[in-house]
Amino acid sequence: MKKWIRGGTVVTASDTYQADVLIDGETIVAIGQGLDGQDAEVIDASGLYVFPGGIDPHTHLDMPFGGTVSSDDFETGTRAAAFGGTTSIIDFCLTQKGKTLQEAIATWHEKARGKALIDYGFHLMIGEANDQVLEELESVVKNEGITSLKVFMAYKNTLQADDETLFKTLTRAKELGALVQVHAENGDVIDYLTRRALANGQTEPIYHALTRPPEAEGEATGRAAALTALAGSQLYVVHVSCADAVRRIAEAREKGWDVYGETCPQYLVLDITALEKPDFEGAKYVWSPPLREAWNQDVLWHALKSGILQTVGSDHCPFNFAGQKELGRGNFTKIPNGGPIIEDRFGLLYSEGVHKGRISLNQFVDVISTKVAKLFGLYPRKGTIAVGADADIVLFDPQGKRTISAATHHMKVDYNPFEGMELHGEVVSVLSRGAFVVRDKQDVGQPGSGQFLHRRTFARP
Ligand code: URP
Ligand code: ZN
Ligand code: ZN
Repeated sequence: MKKWIRGGTVVTASDTYQADVLIDGETIVAIGQGLDGQDAEVIDASGLYVFPGGIDPHTHLDMPFGGTVSSDDFETGTRAAAFGGTTSIIDFCLTQKGKTLQEAIATWHEKARGKALIDYGFHLMIGEANDQVLEELESVVKNEGITSLKVFMAYKNTLQADDETLFKTLTRAKELGALVQVHAENGDVIDYLTRRALANGQTEPIYHALTRPPEAEGEATGRAAALTALAGSQLYVVHVSCADAVRRIAEAREKGWDVYGETCPQYLVLDITALEKPDFEGAKYVWSPPLREAWNQDVLWHALKSGILQTVGSDHCPFNFAGQKELGRGNFTKIPNGGPIIEDRFGLLYSEGVHKGRISLNQFVDVISTKVAKLFGLYPRKGTIAVGADADIVLFDPQGKRTISAATHHMKVDYNPFEGMELHGEVVSVLSRGAFVVRDKQDVGQPGSGQFLHRRTFARP
């Protein structure tokens, strides 16, 4: 029952130190040197970092989108997450107009039941804010453990909500202690630009990016922040891609508004030129918001380093190139938006961030795990290495190297947007609540062992 992780370097958001970690069952029971782990199984961690497991605040598993369904379900997606060093995810539960929130939540529990290899929580999409929805939210937040609500400001005629809905959601979230998340792009303007492009015969993947300009993201981000201040509420902007949006978040925070932001590896590493790849390959790089001009990357790294942005999510929403991305040949609006990142979020951020000297080791832990746990009501059970915390632990070899490839990844998708990239640092083993999910790079996880995370209400981190 006991495990004794010996000889490693424990890294948290605030400290880096040599210590052993003793686990009893699912929990960390001691940290230090000279521990008495006599009856414990010894796990040699010499030369390795002992990180808290990554927490991915932004995934879309088994999710209907753009006339198809994301290709990873809760089993394949969470296995891939674990291989990459992630031990908890928070997935987006979509709602449908005319149906109750409870029905949507039940559907999402059904998707995950018996499948997840690591722990998981849900955010809940709010598409309409009528009296019934606003009433039902009380039970969602207080009883269901779902304490973050997502409003889409884009995807007109499908997921998009209007400003009244956003404002009512913010107001109710303030009363209930929920955190409101926004996909911040001006959906009305994008819809017009998109129709205009198609009418001009502009159908290639690059027009996905050109019809979703950074100004449309900046404007929506600023609007959401202003409505948050008006409601006296709290806001988390997902997948921030560009300087325009970073500036709006920085301005809001300078004013003392409770506004937080997340970026994603794709915006830190890739740029708009990927959408111009020939033979429709550009479709592999269709995200919303789109990839931006490369100079935005420095702004995003700086925002992470300086705390303007607090987290890095994957926005994992995978679609196969064959049969799914291909739906958009001849019409970029039919390309399902999203890509496979759940497995590489942690490794990309370490390699591009820590190894390249853009962020510190402790900042890495903060944005990949600790701050996520704090913002989403999971800390200190998750997000750190501490006595009493869940034993969600990643043993990581900073000297290791691996090359990203669809041929070796565990995500159920036929390409990898980072194909061929060499990463410094490698996940060796992963424990979820004290049990190995990955051991010496081998799959030892059990589908169904992941538990639903009943999260606390929002508290300022
Ligand atoms: O392109 C993206 N981001 N797809 C997933 C859905 C969303 O907007 O987060
Ligand atoms: Zn989005
Ligand atoms: Zn998303």
